[in-house]
Amino acid sequence: MPKKVLTNLDLESMIDTSDEWIMTRTGISERRIIDDGENLSDLALRAALNAIEDASLKPSDIDLIILTTCSPEMILPSTACLVQDKLGLANTPAFDLMAGCTGFIYGLSVASQFIEAKSYENVLVIGADALSRHIDWTDRNTCVLFGDGAGAVVLGSSEKGGGILANYLAASGSGSSLLNIAGGGSGSPCSSDSFDPSSNYLKMNGSEVFKFATRVLPEAVEAVAKRAGLKLEEIDYIIPHQANYRIIETAAKKLHINSDRIINNIERLGNTSTASIPLALEEIYREGRLKAKDKIILVGFGAGLTFGANLIVWEKD
Ligand code: UT7
Repeated sequence: MPKKVLTNLDLESMIDTSDEWIMTRTGISERRIIDDGENLSDLALRAALNAIEDASLKPSDIDLIILTTCSPEMILPSTACLVQDKLGLANTPAFDLMAGCTGFIYGLSVASQFIEAKSYENVLVIGADALSRHIDWTDRNTCVLFGDGAGAVVLGSSEKGGGILANYLAASGSGSSLLNIAGGGSGSPCSSDSFDPSSNYLKMNGSEVFKFATRVLPEAVEAVAKRAGLKLEEIDYIIPHQANYRIIETAAKKLHINSDRIINNIERLGNTSTASIPLALEEIYREGRLKAKDKIILVGFGAGLTFGANLIVWEKD
């Protein structure tokens, strides 16, 4: 996570909002914002190095890098290639994957296919976003929500029978206008005559995305559990994308799941987009709450619109 903290009180002095509104409507109290001198690949590199070290590996042991993001450092080349270079690697394949805030779920699914096919042994999957660089700091509908960060995992093969048991991926492109950053792409290129700087901002129809999220989150959880042949009572933790604590609570009610099994760390980080799930996973791992054989569902939703889930059996002690 970047060091710089932006609190609700800071936002009160910038726009017409209040700590009370933000806390009660979203559950967010503060978020981290990337420093001026830093870039997305710097955040992603730090997360990658932590994950590689925790897996008792060296960067040269990594066979493939998948970086999921909604805010690539450049349109071209991929941020994954920038991270590959910063890791000191020469020929390791690397690519970006864009699936909105569901990116990390898609990334894990893709990585697990490569491992199952025995194409690669150690796959680094990074979820990294710096959406603060796309925020209109006068738009109170979005600027109170997002924070920056990166999280990473190394996936490898295992003989112990755990790992990723099932994936469920879905998309609903008809909702593409509900959450987007329209500018800078080939449909709206940067040129001094035509480029509208406000098209660089993230725009969201919050209430429509809220309705979508509360519908698809339980749907994806149930679908991935069914694919793995497990009942929800057998799941130890659900780690949802951290977009709004009310989305998480509504989903918990629909699923009849006690909220202590649903991880919620939005208060200190805000919505870190593709980084929110790996950051929450890292948090409960670091706190010693995970034990071998725990069954965990990771579930995301976001721009696209996309949604999906992975069901993992944790193996690391
Ligand atoms: O990761 C990508 C996925 N993103 C999401 O899942 C986000 C989903 N959406 C949400 O979490 C919620 O819709 C929001 C938090 C964005 C908004 O909450 P809401 O309860 O849906 O509020 P609203 O948009 O219906 O607005 C209610 C009122 C409006 O005022 P009026 O028109 O009723 O007078 C807004 O102008 O709250 C006002 N408002 C604010 N007031 C103070 C909106 N933003 C703010 C604010 N501070 N920051």
